[in-house]
Amino acid sequence: ENPERARLQAGYELADKLYQYILHNTEQGKVAKEYLKQRGIDDKLMEAFGIGYAPDRWDTLVKLLDKNQFPLTLMEQGGLISAKQDGSGYVDKFRDRVMFPIKDWKGQTIAFGGRIMGQGQPKYMNSPESMLFHKSRILYNLHAARPQIRKTQELVLFEGYMDVMRSWDAGVHNGVATMGTALTQEHAEAIRRLAERVIIAYDGDGAGQTAAYKSIPILENAGCQVRVAVLPGGLDPDEFIAKHGSERFVREVVEAAVPSIKYKLLYYRRNYRMQEDGERLRYIQQALRMIAGLVSPIEREHYVKDITSEFRYSFETAMQTVNEIRLQAEKSD
Ligand code: GTP
Ligand code: MN
Ligand code: MN
Ligand code: MN
Ligand code: MN
Repeated sequence: ENPERARLQAGYELADKLYQYILHNTEQGKVAKEYLKQRGIDDKLMEAFGIGYAPDRWDTLVKLLDKNQFPLTLMEQGGLISAKQDGSGYVDKFRDRVMFPIKDWKGQTIAFGGRIMGQGQPKYMNSPESMLFHKSRILYNLHAARPQIRKTQELVLFEGYMDVMRSWDAGVHNGVATMGTALTQEHAEAIRRLAERVIIAYDGDGAGQTAAYKSIPILENAGCQVRVAVLPGGLDPDEFIAKHGSERFVREVVEAAVPSIKYKLLYYRRNYRMQEDGERLRYIQQALRMIAGLVSPIEREHYVKDITSEFRYSFETAMQTVNEIRLQAEKSD
């Protein structure tokens, strides 16, 4: 084990303890606690996720690290604190933010996400890449969710911290998040090592739905079976739970997730004005091309049936088209 890594990790661990202590035991922490409560996060959930609060001061963490003989240059290189502009020392990187520790597969704190309370930019500040924290590999909450993921062979993929925590509270104990960055092949491979199936539960807004669309082939190429949970009305999972409750979230969102092909067909539909004959035909042709890519003949037949009965086209002609597309694809391989 590299001694610098171990030292930096200990620094993150100390910061984690400090932020939790401040949240739970100080006057300054009360406002943050109030904020969290108002967002539906109670004390039990705060403790389960190790949530803390970084005070509105310049050097609370810097002083504590210094007092405990942590090398500050290393702490700065590791993204835990910031160097002053004029080079005269260090300041805390996170100030007046609710702190969410990010953990590695062993459950050790290796980074933080810090949320501003209320409005302001940036809404979240995440620790930078470091020798401990590789954004293309880490999934938020993977450590805690691992047992349930293995047991059920299913993982629920969210965008954000709040979604993971609120859905955990709703009984979804196999949820992780990408923390706003795009899902990578490395993420997908790590997921596949634990689970066969993935449910993508990204935000219901345009950005979330596009991100879901892009994540599907990454997960499928890694060998995962993918379903997508569609959030209504542009809500994100946290907002859905706040508005409609946990039971409806599990039943109407998570359990109602649709197979990736169905999601892609719906997603594509937004690009076409379906009341116009020409556009509708182009959509159906595009849809048949997507269906032709399905490996299972039963699935191909199922979705061709779906689409031809919806638009009242001939099943036989559509099926023939699918088979022609497959023949051509074979030839050009
Ligand atoms: P809340 O508004 O607190 O409910 O957060 P959210 O999770 O709904 O936020 P959003 O959907 O906007 O973003 C999803 C995730 O992307 C967040 O949980 C963060 O991990 C990340 N993220 C959001 N905003 C920022 C930002 O300004 N900077 C960085 N680095 N990450 C962000
Ligand atoms: Mn979003
Ligand atoms: Mn969101
Ligand atoms: Mn949001
Ligand atoms: Mn949210």
